[in-house]
Amino acid sequence: MSQLFQFLVISSTLAGYYAQSVSNPTFQWPNTLLKYADKQLFEGQLSELVSGCPPRENTTIPAQWVRLAYHDMATYDVSTGAGGLDASIQYELNRGAQNIGEGMPQTLSDFNSDALVTPFFGMADVIALGTVFAVSSCGGPFIPYSAGRVDATEGGPATVPEPQQDLATHIQLFQQQGFNQTEMIGLVACGHTLGASDKRISLRFETCGTLLQRMLNTVPSTVSLTDPITEPFNYVINDPLLSYQNTTFILLTALRVLHPTDTSPTVTMFWVDQEGDSVCPSTGCSIPSSSSDPLAFNEIGIQVGVTPIRYSFKATIDATSSISNFWFEVNNNDGSDPIIVDNGGTGFVLEQDPALSLFVDIDRSEGVVLLDSNTEFFRIVVAVLGDAASASTATLTAFTPISTATAPPFLPTTTLINLILDDSNPPEGGFIFFTGNVSNSVTYLDVSATVDDTTYTVQNFDVNAAAQFLTFVEISS
Ligand code: HEM
Ligand SMILES: *[C@@H]1O[C@H](CO)[C@@H](O)[C@H](O)[C@H]1NC(C)=O
Ligand SMILES: *[C@@H]1O[C@H](CO)[C@@H](O)[C@H](O)[C@H]1NC(C)=O
Ligand SMILES: *[C@@H]1O[C@H](CO)[C@@H](O)[C@H](O)[C@H]1NC(C)=O
Ligand SMILES: *[C@@H]1O[C@H](CO)[C@@H](O)[C@H](O)[C@H]1NC(C)=O
Repeated sequence: MSQLFQFLVISSTLAGYYAQSVSNPTFQWPNTLLKYADKQLFEGQLSELVSGCPPRENTTIPAQWVRLAYHDMATYDVSTGAGGLDASIQYELNRGAQNIGEGMPQTLSDFNSDALVTPFFGMADVIALGTVFAVSSCGGPFIPYSAGRVDATEGGPATVPEPQQDLATHIQLFQQQGFNQTEMIGLVACGHTLGASDKRISLRFETCGTLLQRMLNTVPSTVSLTDPITEPFNYVINDPLLSYQNTTFILLTALRVLHPTDTSPTVTMFWVDQEGDSVCPSTGCSIPSSSSDPLAFNEIGIQVGVTPIRYSFKATIDATSSISNFWFEVNNNDGSDPIIVDNGGTGFVLEQDPALSLFVDIDRSEGVVLLDSNTEFFRIVVAVLGDAASASTATLTAFTPISTATAPPFLPTTTLINLILDDSNPPEGGFIFFTGNVSNSVTYLDVSATVDDTTYTVQNFDVNAAAQFLTFVEISS
């Protein structure tokens, strides 16, 4: 046992704690990172792996996750601003004593198989998220979560404290990591409460929450994190999914509403045409929700004590007048004024100019099941505004989060796919249609198309969100 461990202070009681706040936080759409962070924190399934603080080997899964986060962060050097929580641990597992134990590769394997990495949310963000779930699942405090870490591509310095080192060395290493002696004692105590080391140790919840949050937010000085998320955002929309159908656009979206009271709200979607006018074409310019479904929050989300409800919409939009932005009205039907959900006044703006010049056509795309091999893939169809079919190109950049490597580093892959003109979808309504097949392990697509020297792009198209709306066809070869 190191000198430090003998030093640790036993104090205080554990008490249920959750930061309640009166305001309803919102963010400006599209903020892909905040939206994803909120979803993973309150709806995500990573928490299930640590539900109930489960044992593994001679320890617990949460203990393994938290130790990995600390060792990843321990490369930080406050004097240069380099290192910190950056997933460099993926390249640091062959360092003998420092990162010894099966818990390290096991933890990274847990994170890899959960497929949470995206083009904008790396392994370092997953490691930090894992610690939030781990600490909470073992009865610890909720740690407000920030996202935006950047993954390192190589190992950092070997500066993880080792048990045989003396106290002065530990103090010096922690100082280098940005923690003074008092904070060191606190952080080690908080961490080791989860491990098998010393069950007697517990610090005040607030202290552990604050110190662990600082640990997770110790990142290279070039990285800026989002503001901490302490509760679910109000009014989160699903990115619209589109199809061109016979002079109209079909637009699918949904609004997550936190439902604090026992009212029965009705939610209406409105939109204006591409000129920004609210002249209503015969197909209409507002629509009630087509369904409202309770959403399952995970264990962190449930602590918030509100019921999230998802209101779904299927709007038919005149393709000639088109659409420039949309918004919602939430009427609680309790005599109070309806709440306008308009993204802080701008509406939810379709940013292409002209709007909807490139989109994945959700009705033309399909899921394909190969019966012989029992495999599944997606046949993606992309609509591009323009008729110069002979002089046009389109590509997909397909993102696969899960690595098939047997040991760390577990890295995502991106694949460039050239699309071909889709014979089965001839030009219609000013659009030409391209197609390509992507594996069902792909989670995000960037789409790019050039027609008549004009290039359009769509970034971070969420394949999982789209998949539930696809028609599946079965093929036996
Ligand atoms: C002076 C600093 C530290 C030293 C010398 C140290 C040393 C150790 C050692 C020797 C183990 C046992 C490893 C094994 O054989 O499985 C351990 C486990 C652990 N440490 Fe630390 N540690 C330090 C700081 C921290 C900090 C700051 C945290 C997190 C905030 C932390 C979290 C953990 C956890 C959660 C375990 C249990 C892991 C498991 O059971 O799989 N440690 N530590
Ligand atoms: C677990 O503990 C037992 C008994 O101390 C030991 O024999 C075994 O090697 C340990 N397993 C791991 C994976 O550390
Ligand atoms: C360490 O920093 C804390 C603030 O986080 C401060 O209260 C404490 O006095 C400092 N301790 C030492 C030994 O510098
Ligand atoms: C397209 O819409 C027009 C006008 O609503 C309708 O008359 C026609 O049958 C539709 N065609 C198809 C293929 O659905
Ligand atoms: C996609 O898969 C379908 C079904 O197997 C096949 O008919 C089609 O040729 C494939 N498309 C491309 C672009 O490879």
